[in-house]
Parts: sequence; structure tokens; C-alpha cells
Amino acid sequence: MPIDTSLTRRQALLLSGSAAALAAAGLSRWAQGASTAAQALPIPRLIEARNGEPVTLTLQKTQHRFGRGAPVPAQGISSSYLGPVVRVPSGETISFRVENHLDEETTLHWHGLLVPSHLDGGPHNTIRPGAAWSPEIRVRQPAATAWFHPHPHGSTARQIHSGLAGMMIVSDGADGERALPATYGVDDLPLILQDKRFGRSGAPVYDPDMMDLMHGFQGDTLVVNGAVGPVARVPAGYVRLRLLNAANARIFDLRFADRRPFFVVAGDGGFLAEPVEVRSLAIAPGERYEVLVNFADGRAVELTTAPDAGHGRGMMMPMMGARKRRAGAEALMRFEPDPVLKAATTRLPRQLATPAPFDARSAVAKRTFELNTMMGMGMMHGRRSGAADMMGINGRSFAMDRIDVTARLGTAEVWEISVGGMPPMAHPFHIHGASFRILSKNGRNPAAHEAGWKDVVLVEEHAEILVRFDNPAPPRMPFMYHCHILEHEDHGMMGQLAVV
Ligand code: C2O
Ligand code: CU
Ligand code: CU
Repeated sequence: MPIDTSLTRRQALLLSGSAAALAAAGLSRWAQGASTAAQALPIPRLIEARNGEPVTLTLQKTQHRFGRGAPVPAQGISSSYLGPVVRVPSGETISFRVENHLDEETTLHWHGLLVPSHLDGGPHNTIRPGAAWSPEIRVRQPAATAWFHPHPHGSTARQIHSGLAGMMIVSDGADGERALPATYGVDDLPLILQDKRFGRSGAPVYDPDMMDLMHGFQGDTLVVNGAVGPVARVPAGYVRLRLLNAANARIFDLRFADRRPFFVVAGDGGFLAEPVEVRSLAIAPGERYEVLVNFADGRAVELTTAPDAGHGRGMMMPMMGARKRRAGAEALMRFEPDPVLKAATTRLPRQLATPAPFDARSAVAKRTFELNTMMGMGMMHGRRSGAADMMGINGRSFAMDRIDVTARLGTAEVWEISVGGMPPMAHPFHIHGASFRILSKNGRNPAAHEAGWKDVVLVEEHAEILVRFDNPAPPRMPFMYHCHILEHEDHGMMGQLAVV
């Protein structure tokens, strides 16, 4: 018996008079066209990182306004929610200082940075409360949009949901030559996409039940850069959106309300050879895409998402009722072209980059991975205590002291990943410290926009990737590979990779 809790939740919020209720009310007024009710898209502070200038990132408890109401308890990284955008020029060495002002252990993982494992910030690089971690990071990789977030085993989902995540831009200084929009906050906008559940107090609530662990924790309210239903004023030309899915579990299926085309210029690992035209774009947790959108017609338009197609694939067990199934598209935010802002880019660039070549025949090994959602039967008793190692890969749940894969530094391998068992759902599979090309998805070639270097692949049934291992990870400090649905990761759908 499917129950639409999102409706009842929303009603509860509206009755509670909380910040989130006001935000939700603001959103619905806004969705009906009263854009004056909406807040401006928050643009995170930009930190330009340089050689020899330390960058401090503080993980802290905060108060944050998601909507128009009062601030509510949240967490952020040197911010009230999420973090600054850190731009690092490729080729430089950045000294970070990561301070843990939380009252629990954490780590800070650089998702998408290609660095040795002792700098990676995975579950072995823990930072105790009150302590700091100071990695010196030599950035040597093509321009790309990456991000950072905590990775303490078992608490990653809760910590990211509370607001601990931020974007990182690796730049190569050549956006001018590529004729790409590159004015941060004006025509080059970070969009950090998430969904939230808000409690009666208006603060985000993270209280997954067994069903949420199975399917991943999804919210009933969409937020962009920590704001509910914001509006961005943009120049009436091409604007570059750096999309990051930092949701725990939801796959966004993005499209503009007027179905205008837009152009993917980069994926997780950097630029595509040339822009790829799309009308919709699925972005799974952990993934990044950079897209160009043309606002030259001067019309305001909403960015929307269709219901998450990765869930409810095939036959669901009836007890797992489709409680989060939503009917139509939902608005994430709105763009309003402003003639006062100078449109710096009025043409679509043709040639973007020459992505590093790859040769599938160079693979020295082939491995298979089956993603298992329901292994143990702790769930039969409906007790959360039995769920800690409910998920796994190849029948084994994550263990900090077990190395699952040892690869040779400087080689490439083919990894074949498939979805095992119930429920049939898509899993975004991610590898640390390595980048890969998708060879096939469900037996077919990947879509053109997924054909560049990546570090997350959405596995619907089956995917084959060619992975390069160019960063070392000794067995005592391995890299992780895992499902980026954070509840799956925390409950054991993760393995350890040594690169020697
Ligand atoms: Cu976003 Cu293990 O990472
Ligand atoms: Cu990662
Ligand atoms: Cu998963």
C-alpha cells in the first residue's frame, strides 16, 4: 500500500510554521509564477588556491537558512551550509588545513582528485574532533569539476546530508582559448543539487528507516546550493552550469521546463572533445557535468527534474511500496536573464579538448563486481542494528582490514559491474584515485556525453569500464570503490583497492 509521505510531510511542514514550511510555501508560490517570493541563488565564496597559500577548511556546526524562515541547525565547511568553491590551478601544490570542529570523527575526501591514497581523505584518513589534517596536494590533472566531502565509514551519509560538501574546480587557465564562459558567479555557476527532508523545527532530518537504507534516503524538498527554489539572474547569452549531484541517493533527470536544448561540455574527469547537445541529462549521486545553456531569448525558465528513474525499475516487492514515486517534473530553480548583465559568450564553442586516448586492449586484467543490496537477513527482524553489513559487493560486505583488489600502478584493467538481486535499481559506482572510460552500458555504447573520462558510472544492469591506475595506494592505506548511494556505501557496498 504505497503511501505518499511527501505530501503528508509537506502538509505537516505547512502546519508547523517552521522555516522549511515557509520555504515550501515560498516554493509553491514561486512555482505558480510569483518569483518575487524566491531567494537569489546563493553563490558559494570562491577561494583561489595558490602555491604556498594555505587553504583552511573547517567542518563545523552552523545555523543556516534554507528558505525565507529562521536559521536552523545545520553543518557546513567554513560556511553555514556546504562549503566554499575551491579553485586550484593544475600544476600547483596546495597546502590544505582541514579542521574538525564537529564532536565526532570525520575525514575529508577529494572526490575526483587524482592523488596518492594518503592524501585522498578516505575512511583511513580520520580526523578526530578538535584535530586538523594538513595534506599537501599536488594537482596534476586536466581541468575538471571535482568536489570534497567527509568519508568516515558508517557516517558518510549523515555527515553529507547535514551539509558537509563543497565543490572544487581544477583549472588549466585555457577557458578563454576554448571560448567558454568563465566568470565565476556570473556566467560560470556552481549548482550543487540535493534533496532534503525537513523536520517540524525546519531543520534537515536524517532518520533513514529500513526502506530508506534499501533504496537510499530521498528527500521531499529540492535544494540548490542550500536554497529551496532559488532564482539566478543570468546574462542573456551562454551560461556555464557546473552541476554536482551531492544528494544521498536521488538521481536527477534534468531538463528545462520549455525543453530547450543544452550542451554538455565536461563530465567527471574533464572536457569532452566537443559540446554534446541534449534535452535531458541524468546525473547520479557523485557525478558532475558542466553544461552550457543559451539564455539569449531573454525568457525566464525553470530547471526541473523528472522523477528518479533509477528507482522502481522492474517489479518491486510490494512491501517496498513506491512511496517516493512522484508524478511529474519538479522545479529545482529558475533562471531569469537580465539584460543589464553583459553576455560574454554568444556562440557555442566547437572544439574543447583532446581527451587523453585509451585503448581497451591495453587492459592487463578483467574483474567482475556484483553489487548486492540484500545480503544478510538482519532486515527480516526490521532492526537497524542488523543492517550494518546488509549491502556488499561480490557477496562481501565492506571491511576496513581486508584488501579486495590489488592493481598494478601504471596499468589499466577492465571492470565489469552488474546489479545483483533485489530490488532492481541503479547504482552509481565510483572509484577513488583512478579515472575510467565507459566501454559499454547494458551492452550498448555509452551516450556521447558519458564517453569522456569519469569516476562515477551509473550501473543500471551492467556496465564495463576501462580503469587506469596511476596513483599509488599501499595495502595499509587503500583506495575505495563503492556505490555512491550513501546509505549503500555506509552499509557495506564498498571495497578496498590497493595500487602497488
Ligand atoms: Cu564521493 Cu568515496 O566518494
Ligand atoms: Cu571519491
Ligand atoms: Cu547502490
